[in-house]
Amino acid sequence: MTATIRPKTFAHIVYRSYRFDEMLDWYVKVFDARVQYQSPVIAFVTYDEEHHRIALLNLGIVKGESQEKVPRGAPGVDHVAYGYRSLTELLDKYLELKAKDVLPYWCIHHGITVSLYYADPDGNQMEFQADSYDSNDAANAFMHGPDFELNPIGVEFDPEALIARLRAGESEAALRLRTRHLPVSELRGTLMG
Ligand SMILES: [Fe+2]
Repeated sequence: MTATIRPKTFAHIVYRSYRFDEMLDWYVKVFDARVQYQSPVIAFVTYDEEHHRIALLNLGIVKGESQEKVPRGAPGVDHVAYGYRSLTELLDKYLELKAKDVLPYWCIHHGITVSLYYADPDGNQMEFQADSYDSNDAANAFMHGPDFELNPIGVEFDPEALIARLRAGESEAALRLRTRHLPVSELRGTLMG
């Protein structure tokens, strides 16, 4: 029996809200935080060196009004995120959980993280992530660049294909960077409707 892999960090929480501006003001005020990135659909906030500690999804956006993908679901917690030490460790965790019949419902390369989303039996959503960049300055630079502007949600990927590429000798440092920025993924989840 191999040792199981545990998360390194509790990384962030994401809320869905119809009161996007009010919520953003509140989190900035209460956590003495700063806005790292903001669009009509999503905002990322942090209060320390992490690239985001809190994110808000704007449920008030009407489909068709924006080019960006529109969040769905009820107001409340969208997901919580746990950080792993590397892409290799994240994919080892994927294999460990797959062996226990636990599979992700959404595999998405966000650009700042490579992320696997899982749901517990109640449908509560959680993100298991590995950072794409070694420094949060580099992650923040990506969040302020054109590729994130083009696609702040991410590009879906097949974890099995990524594992095969790593095993074939491609470098983790290259694979954890988002080099393909389209198509913009649908926001997937168990709590949507
Ligand atoms: Fe997240």
